[in-house]
Amino acid sequence: MSSNIVWHKHTVDKDTRANKLKQKPSVIWLTGLSGSGKSTIANLLEKRLFEAQHATYLLDGDNVRHGLCGDLGFDDKARVENIRRISEVSKLFVDAGLIVLTAFISPFKADRDFCRSLLNEGEFIEVFVDTPLEVCEQRDPKGLYKKARSGDIKHFTGIDSDYEAPASPEVHLQYQDEPAEDTAERLYQALKTKGFVS
Ligand code: ADX
Repeated sequence: MSSNIVWHKHTVDKDTRANKLKQKPSVIWLTGLSGSGKSTIANLLEKRLFEAQHATYLLDGDNVRHGLCGDLGFDDKARVENIRRISEVSKLFVDAGLIVLTAFISPFKADRDFCRSLLNEGEFIEVFVDTPLEVCEQRDPKGLYKKARSGDIKHFTGIDSDYEAPASPEVHLQYQDEPAEDTAERLYQALKTKGFVS
């Protein structure tokens, strides 16, 4: 933490902004293997929330790694830094009053817990997109599993880099056989039932 810096409290704060937007700001954090469906489901969920008049922002691994995290690779240290930056950005967006959706593998429990620790109770909603490795590998939408198996890519999650599954996520999705639209709708309904979104 930087020294000699004092936090400045602004008059227009999170509550003011959230009231204007008529919503409870939060982070809906999707975690799961590459190819599990995180980005697809997050994209559909954002559409659903948008249609319900919510103000949202989607942070997606592949996109963020073109800019904010463009300097980071995939060894453990780089992944920790990737999720640290995303967590801090998510916190700022929550402060802006938004419902933030994130789609990152975020393989390490400690890093997901770090994001939870930055936020208030009920603001961090962990969603485990629990698609088995065999299914992700069979889908292989970007051909990366094939490259990882042949050794062309190192530190690939599920192959030669760990994935620590969430023990008690707020929402657990295990519906790899149904269309993503149905899973996104399930997620939306679960978030409503649990009172995370209106
Ligand atoms: S995370 O582990 O740091 O959370 P993130 O979600 O940002 O990962 O990026 C994952 C995406 O990067 C994957 O969906 C895949 O397209 C791509 N990728 C490239 N190399 C790797 C790798 N070694 N392990 C996992 N994903 C990789």
